[in-house]
Amino acid sequence: MAQTNTSPIFLGFSSQKGGVGKSTLAEIVSSILYYEEGLNLFVVDCDLSQDSFYKLRQREKNAIENSPDMSRQLQTYFSSLGRIAYRVLKADPENAIACANDQIRKNTNGRYDLVVFDFPGHAGTSELLQLSLDMDYILSPIEADVQSMVSCLSYARTIQDMGISMRDVRIKDIMLLWNKVDRRVKSKLMDYYSDYLVKEGFTLLQCRIHAAHRFSHELEQYGFRGAFRSTYLAPAKALRSGTGLDELVEELLMNIRLKKEVNDGKD
Ligand SMILES: Nc1ncnc2c1ncn2[C@@H]1O[C@H](COP(=O)(O)OP(=O)(O)OP(=O)(O)O)[C@@H](O)[C@H]1O
Ligand SMILES: [Mg+2]
Repeated sequence: MAQTNTSPIFLGFSSQKGGVGKSTLAEIVSSILYYEEGLNLFVVDCDLSQDSFYKLRQREKNAIENSPDMSRQLQTYFSSLGRIAYRVLKADPENAIACANDQIRKNTNGRYDLVVFDFPGHAGTSELLQLSLDMDYILSPIEADVQSMVSCLSYARTIQDMGISMRDVRIKDIMLLWNKVDRRVKSKLMDYYSDYLVKEGFTLLQCRIHAAHRFSHELEQYGFRGAFRSTYLAPAKALRSGTGLDELVEELLMNIRLKKEVNDGKD
């Protein structure tokens, strides 16, 4: 493992463009990594103005309180898991790092592998750029339309340039990821941009996340088995097939070096 014993990896879900899937992917990926992959993590929601990570946890808590059935199912699930749910904290972008460090210091229950930051809708202002540079890695969802690409590219380039030229910044890489991809349509724009991004030296994840209605399915409406977007559950494997999520988790773990390497004899 690449990290030292004391410092978890900071992973930000961020973009200059709103509505590209930052919160959705942060929620689903965090739940898969924690509940299935067994990583120890917590989340800092830096988007206080919207229906983001923290509010999803609140909605889920309410739904469980109001449903004895669901509450029983979750109790059984958590006792077989042998862990409680991961923490979801909230903080202004300016205070997000202090909030995370405070939680890392306070933790008495083993060390954290990862801290996930859900960024606000627009990452253009200086405090958001600063927060971006304080991440180890950023995962930035992109969509194949020209206007969206212009702002996504300018953000990615800024982070890349500042990461290389400034000292004392934590950022190691910004990973771009195609999201909401329509599998039925071959997109020339996406192919064009994919080539361009690679030529320009950006890290473009090979996996693609497909568009599907289930990305909005929550516990309250779809119950224990049908929930896709949840802070208590990873989406059921059968529901994940064909979405690209498992490929994403695999590729992400390799890129942020949290994948335990087998028999290589190295750290
Ligand atoms: N792969 C997908 N397929 C279908 N819908 C998706 C997918 N990813 C995200 N969405 C939908 O897109 C909408 C915006 O997603 P989300 O809120 O995660 O974006 P965001 O980048 O966090 O937005 P904001 O910038 O406002 O914080 C939501 O309705 C979500 O359900
Ligand atoms: Mg969001």
